[in-house]
Amino acid sequence: MTPLLQIQNLTRYFGALTAVNGISMAIEPRERRAIIGPNGAGKTTLFNLITGHLAPSAGAILFEGRPLGGLPPHAVARRGLSRSFQRNNVFAGLDVLENLRLAAAADGRGSFNLFGSVARLPRPLAKAREVAEAVGLTGRLGTPAGALSYGEQRQLEIGIALATSPTLLLLDEPTAGMSPEETQRMTRLLAGLPGDVTVLIIEHDMDVVFSLADRITVLHYGEVLTEGTPDAVRSDPRVYEVYLGTEDER
Ligand SMILES: Nc1ncnc2c1ncn2[C@@H]1O[C@H](COP(=O)(O)OP(=O)(O)OP(=O)(O)O)[C@@H](O)[C@H]1O
Ligand SMILES: [Mg+2]
Repeated sequence: MTPLLQIQNLTRYFGALTAVNGISMAIEPRERRAIIGPNGAGKTTLFNLITGHLAPSAGAILFEGRPLGGLPPHAVARRGLSRSFQRNNVFAGLDVLENLRLAAAADGRGSFNLFGSVARLPRPLAKAREVAEAVGLTGRLGTPAGALSYGEQRQLEIGIALATSPTLLLLDEPTAGMSPEETQRMTRLLAGLPGDVTVLIIEHDMDVVFSLADRITVLHYGEVLTEGTPDAVRSDPRVYEVYLGTEDER
């Protein structure tokens, strides 16, 4: 099987700093892959390289066997990669259903139809309702996004990413800043994401990581320290040393 995403010797410098240093990895279709590692390990930089928000200094990224490297973010999105960003793609004054419907109508593969009314398009509406269900917001369809709780706003952000029908969904710390109850709800949501969507998730909460991931990649100083099943990673003493052992200090 061809991996959905292949990263080959990917490197990114920021001046004298090597934030991502020769990373290679392959993500299979439908996989749930967690990326973990201490603060500054290069996790978000890796996402920025994959989504075209940063250009690689060296190396290659192949998606569905074709190179992504050098494409701008909108072109990457059109290929079927969707990233959940905190807040910046949520319209606070629009309600939940409208936010999801706009995202569905503007799905990564096309562009807005500026001359038609989104409201009259049946497909985005059905998609919006389906996604609302998937992210647990069916009871909040008419609530303005700005009036949602913090946890619900993060659910909506994932909904907006999902509404574009991505092949690969990238999530950068979806439980950051959440209460234990909100984290539990988010964990259930993540576990229930559609099986045909491949998920790449950066997450510091080890309960979330170990309950969700098929495989885990551990980054340290911009390099892959190790990669394997949750059990293998959990029992690797090096991982404990660089990361799990310092978790309490965060
Ligand atoms: N745009 C930038 N310009 C300069 N340095 C950067 C830039 N982005 C990231 N860095 C540096 O690159 C390194 C990796 O940062 P990155 O944000 O990828 O880490 P991370 O693993 O996501 O950390 P965290 O767990 O804190 O989110 C850090 O030393 C960071 O300061
Ligand atoms: Mg980060």
